[in-house]
Amino acid sequence: MVVRRILFGAAVLLSVNFVPGYTQDFGYDGTSGPNFWGKTFHNCVGKHQSPIDIELTDVKVKKFPPLKFENFDMALEKVILKNNGHTVVLTVAEGQLPSVSGGPLEGTYLFAQLHFHWGKNDLEGSENLINNHSFPLELHMVFYKSSYNDFLHAANHSDGLTVLSYLFEAVESENHRYDKFEEELVKVQNLGATAEVHDFVPVQQFIIDDKDAYFTYLGSLTTPPCSEVVIWIEFRQTVPLSHDQIQTFRQLSGTHGRLEHNFRPIQPLFDRVIYMNSGSYTYIKYTAFLLTILGIMCQ
Ligand SMILES: *[C@@H]1O[C@H](CO)[C@@H](O)[C@H](O)[C@H]1NC(C)=O
Ligand SMILES: *[C@@H]1O[C@H](CO)[C@@H](O)[C@H](O)[C@H]1NC(C)=O
Ligand SMILES: [Zn+2]
Repeated sequence: MVVRRILFGAAVLLSVNFVPGYTQDFGYDGTSGPNFWGKTFHNCVGKHQSPIDIELTDVKVKKFPPLKFENFDMALEKVILKNNGHTVVLTVAEGQLPSVSGGPLEGTYLFAQLHFHWGKNDLEGSENLINNHSFPLELHMVFYKSSYNDFLHAANHSDGLTVLSYLFEAVESENHRYDKFEEELVKVQNLGATAEVHDFVPVQQFIIDDKDAYFTYLGSLTTPPCSEVVIWIEFRQTVPLSHDQIQTFRQLSGTHGRLEHNFRPIQPLFDRVIYMNSGSYTYIKYTAFLLTILGIMCQ
């Protein structure tokens, strides 16, 4: 079992580092920027691309089964952080992989990697938007469907990947759940730098606790090759982080100088429907109901 997990980890590392199509050059400015990706990577001009703007008045409310997270609360035996020139990527090299099932997903999805997108200041940076509102940082936890055996095979099926996506908010105080990560982040500022960390914090530390309030839609990888194979799960509640903590991300060096921003602009929705889990809807309705009752009582 341990050997199998190590193999899983190795497969993920291979997929990120050595496979054609995942290593070709792209950037976020000028002629290597998002508007030109489609010339080299034809999927990038598809009709189910990510990110998107989530318009609250257009979402369709739907009741999904509860999301089930496993191994989110376990320390990660050995992780590797890498500055790949486009972002900082965390992969699990040894130990139990977190997994997710339920919600809009059929079957179990295993952790492949997590990474971030940010902007040059706190007013922008997230890839997905809500009512045209940008957030300063967005975390993508990428999982592949376990029945497809590995990341690469999964990335060739329309339901092959899921991304648990978290939006951040700049706040006054530091979020100490990110201390350990930030400590490692400064070690991988140089292009191509890696850091190996043993007994790392559980992935639960990176996210918020509310698993019910989310949007979901079908989309793509937001970087080349832009494959349309991702079930997006975008959480409504934001993760707080201080300005200085967010600033650390902007110190990374990319393939084209300092990586000040690495978010792709929003793409057209076309025929797609964005769903909002009714768990969040019930919560909103319940709050509204309580406020109404309170209003009546106070009259
Ligand atoms: C967001 O921007 C689009 C395009 O400019 C516009 O049609 C839409 O009404 C905006 N949404 C909100 C909530 O302002
Ligand atoms: C799967 O791979 C084939 C052959 O390379 C390709 O034509 C097809 O578009 C891929 N499917 C997806 C969903 O990426
Ligand atoms: Zn991403």
